[in-house]
Amino acid sequence: MRDSEAGTSETGTTETDTEAEAGTPAGNETVFTWGGPALKFGAGAVAEIGYDVAQLGASRVLVLTDPGVAATGVPDRVVDSLRAAGLAAELFTGVHVEPTDTSIAAAVDFARDGGWDGFVGVGGGSAIDTAKAVDLMTSHPADLNDYLNAPIGRGLAPAGPLAPLVAVPTTAGTGAESTAVCVLDVLDLRVKTGISHPRLRPALAVVDPEVTLTLPPGVTAASGFDILCHALESFTARPYDAYPRRRPEDRVAYCGANPVSDVWIRQTLPLLARSFRTAHRSGDDLAARTDMLQAALFAGLGFGNAGVHIPHACAYPIAGRVRDFHPDGYPDAEPMVPHGMSVVLTAPAAFRRTYEANPERHLWAAHVLDPETDQVADPGERLPTAIIRLMRDTGMPNGLSEVGYAETDVADLVDGASRQHRLLSIAPVDVGDDVLTDVLKDSLTLW
Ligand SMILES: NC(=O)c1ccc[n+]([C@@H]2O[C@H](COP(=O)([O-])OP(=O)(O)OC[C@H]3O[C@@H](n4cnc5c(N)ncnc54)[C@H](O)[C@@H]3O)[C@@H](O)[C@H]2O)c1
Repeated sequence: MRDSEAGTSETGTTETDTEAEAGTPAGNETVFTWGGPALKFGAGAVAEIGYDVAQLGASRVLVLTDPGVAATGVPDRVVDSLRAAGLAAELFTGVHVEPTDTSIAAAVDFARDGGWDGFVGVGGGSAIDTAKAVDLMTSHPADLNDYLNAPIGRGLAPAGPLAPLVAVPTTAGTGAESTAVCVLDVLDLRVKTGISHPRLRPALAVVDPEVTLTLPPGVTAASGFDILCHALESFTARPYDAYPRRRPEDRVAYCGANPVSDVWIRQTLPLLARSFRTAHRSGDDLAARTDMLQAALFAGLGFGNAGVHIPHACAYPIAGRVRDFHPDGYPDAEPMVPHGMSVVLTAPAAFRRTYEANPERHLWAAHVLDPETDQVADPGERLPTAIIRLMRDTGMPNGLSEVGYAETDVADLVDGASRQHRLLSIAPVDVGDDVLTDVLKDSLTLW
């Protein structure tokens, strides 16, 4: 992973989008927007995928996955189902775990002359995001740089609709099956950026808890904390009507906390409270896996519209500047701090700082997540305590020091996080370098 460029968020939009322009209506925002994909959810849903892809009008379908997911046999079952429905189907297993511009170029090369008119991404965020990029680059060929968000790339919109993409998530985490963005590292520039456009949103998400039964405990935990942070950050985000009014063409994907996103998040936390520890401990518990996959989906439908803030802003340099950490459950070839782990490491400290902005939301979340935290005397410590207890129970590292950072790295990490203007503007408190320094120092050791 590489660091993210200034002003680019996980939705891949850039700071320049937020600048007020001439003709912007006066006063505070009164409108919010919300979007999501078509869904098919439930045990056994993947077996029906041939029928579903045929309904979308595709006839030649490329299935994309990474080697770890390929080894589970699920992508082969998807190909079999597509062929049984009379479609031509082939499998690409070369997705890079946490994709890069180089890995995406290799996938596009593989796909370029295939005449594909449909794509299926089978895997976690890495496979689904790679499938989005390959769909874009083969439907409307251009230089990848043309589509990357400005200022890294040219930020061009696709010239027309893409071939239908079906997402089959095999992790319970990113919610990439419902978002309109793909996230990737640009290796030469050492930045993480994205491509963001509504046309990238999958036509259909086929969400089947049975395919998550093989997730190793380390991936269950890291991706589970991505869900938790999506939920907590979007629930505590600055509300949409605290921003200046925008023209319709200037509205951004992350519009701030809003009543519709709140509904999804209020359903997410009880599922995590009930099943996170069980899914980590007993990976073959289908009821727990179902709860976790539903939680990932619900959080995606919430955060994908409301936004995320301080922990996600800090996650980019934490993942991007990794030296030699090799987490359990992930490919060992390269050092990495997996996305969800990089996010949760600063969450306890971040929610300590945001508590005063909306205490009732922090207290509600702490109570639902872990009712025993009602006993914590300092109310501002209840949510950090609930998060830390869950981290300890699921084998997360005890702070940034356990993934290789020391106090001498804090200034460098602040430099990376402070560039995430859009994400930081979603926080319910003003976040300057002083706050980021406090949060990162406070996150070196958590318990
Ligand atoms: N597009 C979005 O909206 C969005 C949102 C958040 C994060 N992301 C991106 O998603 C990526 C992370 O995705 P992720 O956390 O889902 O993990 P991942 O896709 O990177 O997969 C992690 C590991 O788990 C393995 N794996 C996945 N499913 C498995 C299964 N069922 N059984 C056994 N092994 C399995 C994979 O082989 C891989 O080794 C990052 O690049 C991140 O930036 C995208």
